[in-house]
Amino acid sequence: MVPPKNLSELPKAPGSCVSSLVQESRENAMVEAAHDPQGRYDLAEFGLKEMIECGRALRIESQNSATMEDAARRIVSFLHGKLSSAYGQTNCALVRCFKTHRFFDLPVELEKVARKALLQNDPSPSLPCLTLLATAGDRPEWNDRRTSQGHAVIPLESVELVERAPMIAALIRQMGLEIESTLYPDPQIILDSEQHTFNVFHVENANGDPLIPAQKGFVGAYGISSVLGFGGLLPSGELFAIILFSKVRITRETAELFRTIALGVKLALLPFTRGRIFDDDPINRPGRHLEENLKTIQDEQLRSETATLQLLLSALEDTALYQTRRLHLSNQKLVLQAESVQRQGARLSAMLEATSDAVFLLDREWRFTFLNHYAQTLIANGVDLIGQNVWELFPHAVGTNFWVEYRKAMLEGQDVKFQEYYPPPLDRWFEVHAFPSDDGIAAFFHDVTDRRRQEETLRQTEKLAAAGKLAASLAHEINNPLEAITNLLYLVGGDERLSAETKSFVALAEGELKRVSEITSQMLRFHRQSTFASEVNLVAVCESVLALYKGRLDQANVKVIKAFPSSAVVTGYEGEIRQVLANLVGNAIDASRLGGSLWLKVRYRKSLQDGRPGVTVTVADSGSGMSKAVAARIFEPFFTTKGITGSGLGLWISLDLVKKHGGRLSLRTSELFSRHGTVFSLFLPADMGREAARSDFERE
Ligand SMILES: Nc1ncnc2c1ncn2[C@@H]1O[C@H](COP(=O)(O)OP(=O)(O)OP(=O)(O)O)[C@@H](O)[C@H]1O
Ligand SMILES: [Mg+2]
Repeated sequence: MVPPKNLSELPKAPGSCVSSLVQESRENAMVEAAHDPQGRYDLAEFGLKEMIECGRALRIESQNSATMEDAARRIVSFLHGKLSSAYGQTNCALVRCFKTHRFFDLPVELEKVARKALLQNDPSPSLPCLTLLATAGDRPEWNDRRTSQGHAVIPLESVELVERAPMIAALIRQMGLEIESTLYPDPQIILDSEQHTFNVFHVENANGDPLIPAQKGFVGAYGISSVLGFGGLLPSGELFAIILFSKVRITRETAELFRTIALGVKLALLPFTRGRIFDDDPINRPGRHLEENLKTIQDEQLRSETATLQLLLSALEDTALYQTRRLHLSNQKLVLQAESVQRQGARLSAMLEATSDAVFLLDREWRFTFLNHYAQTLIANGVDLIGQNVWELFPHAVGTNFWVEYRKAMLEGQDVKFQEYYPPPLDRWFEVHAFPSDDGIAAFFHDVTDRRRQEETLRQTEKLAAAGKLAASLAHEINNPLEAITNLLYLVGGDERLSAETKSFVALAEGELKRVSEITSQMLRFHRQSTFASEVNLVAVCESVLALYKGRLDQANVKVIKAFPSSAVVTGYEGEIRQVLANLVGNAIDASRLGGSLWLKVRYRKSLQDGRPGVTVTVADSGSGMSKAVAARIFEPFFTTKGITGSGLGLWISLDLVKKHGGRLSLRTSELFSRHGTVFSLFLPADMGREAARSDFERE
């Protein structure tokens, strides 16, 4: 930025907004200077923001310079120091500021250097010489223009000569200038070009590029990746350019951004175009400008500043417009995205509500952010949990499996799946699946109680089937020796020499042996189930069950009272019906610990529900009876009051078998002291009906 002091002395441009822009920029500059004096700009990530910030910081940096050389030195030092990576490594190995200078105006020592390079002995006083104004770089000797070996001053004697320095020629051309007009500046063309020219010279890949000199000793040795030059014309027709030899790749897009920075550089150099160029120039430089009137110089400077500021303004306006358009577009996009996110959110929560799982979400601070309806009923108990910390709400859960698994999901980002039991009143098993996300975790609770019970049932059924098989094979194995013993006893019994007492013992042994045979054949029949329904005589089945339980009945002191017709036939699976009756009789014996009576009644009847003909078997005992709570659950799998001696599967399986036969199983029970006991009624249709059996009970 132009030093404020100088500007305030200049007359105001009529009808221009320059002064207010300058005023505003000055305030901003002061704020910015206080705000980020250490700001770094990395060429690898240089964007519009960096362009504006860097341009502004650069103008502040060059304020109050004493000479053009001083301003240029500050600019190159700033660019060398501040264009750097986040770790402070400089982006550019070397930054240089060149300016064309009339031979006549060269300081003595540069004039000497220039003379040595000249082809002709008597150069024109206005011969332009490309002069190194300031330099800053990674090596100490690159930080003083006086130590430059070959680039301190290069006289631009002819177009051919300039062409021999391809980088200079390309620099001039890429800046939108004719080499000719640089050599012989025409005031008319200058004014016009000055207002439009702020192009950049850019070689993205410097390695091996013919435009860049000193490939081996400089480009290769210092890892130069890209070269960027930017500058323009001064009102005197002189050219200025800053050249960055960058170790990081400068893209075309980044290079373009330096057009605007070039304007800032120009504003910094402008106050000195007719004043002190080099530090060594005297304060009131005498010479060829003496004849020029101060007013004309001021006018020229003001015109140039105005033009540059207008260019800067329009560049910044373009940027502002571009950014506004982008902002507008991204705003629209954001609105659309927000709407879509909202829709998705609504869809997601509808889905989470519709799922049969309980779902809740926790943020990274373990606070609830969402609970679906099921989760609310499961854990919230009517309280609003949103925003509350899960471990503060449920301190007893700290250290449990939930705590361990949720932490795994939250802190280690793992998907976790585990099963946990919720004690009464829930009395359910849940499979919990917790997923980590950027926001925290999502936990899904799936009720697996039924599945676990089914799995358990399956295991038990398999065990029972295996036990049944074993029993059947044992019975089969026992049968053969039994037959042999029976035959032998028969032979022994027929021996005339035996005493009457021995004969009675043999007869007793034969009786007991007959019972053993009956038991083994019953066991075999239990196992051998037919695959086809056949006629089953329920009287015979009842007899066989009683025979099986005779030992236990006698032992428990239970008297059996039978009421059987001669036969009662239904169509069904004999093995399965026997299994049902055996369980009913077994349960009755279990309930009659103190002895008592067991009534077993078989009769032809019509179904009370639909009048179908069939047979009813009533199994009644004078045992303990059941409470209402027990009776309500006896058909559930695994429900037992017998501890480890009962599996709780008997009635559950029985009901299933009865249903299969289209029958019905009902009960009445009483715990009353005066009249305790249980009556199970099994109705089996004569022909297996399709209707499912129902279970119910009455209580007295
Ligand atoms: N006649 C009965 N008198 C009293 N309680 C009974 C009677 N029959 C069944 N129960 C009750 O019903 C429960 C369930 O009976 P179920 O036959 O299903 O299983 P279980 O007899 O306990 O075990 P198992 O699988 O060995 O049969 C019993 O534990 C008992 O509490
Ligand atoms: Mg039982």
